Amino acid sequence: MAPTIFSHIKCPLHRYTFSIKPLRIWVEQQCEGKVLNLFSGITPLQVSEIRNDLDPGAIADYHLDALEFLHQWRGYRFDTVLLDPPYSYRKSMELYKGIRCSPFRKLKDAIPPHLNRGGKVITFGYHSVVMGRSRGFHPEHIGIISHGGAIHDTIIAVERYNPIKNKTMDHDKQCISKP
Ligand SMILES: C[S@@+](CC[C@H](N)C(=O)[O-])C[C@H]1O[C@@H](n2cnc3c(N)ncnc32)[C@H](O)[C@@H]1O
Repeated sequence: MAPTIFSHIKCPLHRYTFSIKPLRIWVEQQCEGKVLNLFSGITPLQVSEIRNDLDPGAIADYHLDALEFLHQWRGYRFDTVLLDPPYSYRKSMELYKGIRCSPFRKLKDAIPPHLNRGGKVITFGYHSVVMGRSRGFHPEHIGIISHGGAIHDTIIAVERYNPIKNKTMDHDKQCISKP
């Protein structure tokens, strides 16, 4: 298995992560194929993306709770899923109009049926492992964003979906009704 790559990015903290240009460019370079941007916010990316954000004021194709979006989506499978939710309950209340992230474990369980085998999930937050090996993912790239001063770093986990055989069968069963 290929070793995990590390990136170290220095840039200020912003509640709308991708409005900071170096981060927007970094994430655009990481995206592959059809992208699901599940907490899309206000910055369109120069990739082929479907955008969802619960906030009606966000720039999005859909304004659904993230978990609800995954339950309702009947379209193609994605090659990249971007997860940039509020990183904590407190941040939801202070920065995102009290809009709260869906239960995150359920959200992670609902992603694989919408992801092509060989696809990737890119997650911004406080964890280097998010989807994990139990769901068929392995860590490929970890980004550390240094915001400077007393502000804690942000971690970006890039995890590649390569389920082993029995998991692959589960994946195919789950995707059976998809086009
Ligand atoms: C950290 S910001 C990310 C914004 C985006 N990546 C950007 O750079 O502009 C989190 C976003 O998640 C949205 N959000 C919060 N809870 C949500 C939920 N349950 N479902 C969908 N979107 C949600 C907020 O409205 C906010 O725009």
